[in-house]
Amino acid sequence: MKASFGRRYMISASHRLHADALSADENQATYGKCNNPHGHGHNYVLEVLVAGAVDEETGMVVNMAALDELVRNRVVNRFDHANLNVDPLFVNRVPTTENLCRVVFALLKNDLPSGELERVRVKETENNYFECVDE
Ligand code: NI
Repeated sequence: MKASFGRRYMISASHRLHADALSADENQATYGKCNNPHGHGHNYVLEVLVAGAVDEETGMVVNMAALDELVRNRVVNRFDHANLNVDPLFVNRVPTTENLCRVVFALLKNDLPSGELERVRVKETENNYFECVDE
């Protein structure tokens, strides 16, 4: 039997959606007000889902404190109260929620305390979220 454990984290960060390969008009047409030169902020809600067997000894899929430490060190400390556009991971990548989700997935997937990273979901607003899974 496979089980999964989900945990939620919050990140407040700013971004500006702008693709260097597009002209100013194309950027405006593509991203609308999210292309505003001054950027804007979001209170992102990040959901991490770890799947695996329930360990018979501990009764857990993954140790929550160890998972928290990993997510804090790799993701929360890096992006919370930051401008995503200046992070090296977004220098050549538009900081859309889609790309934030992919980046978070990549930062976590190889170093989980146990289990497999099943899914990362990033909620940007009340009305939109993005999620990614391993291929
Ligand atoms: Ni935005």
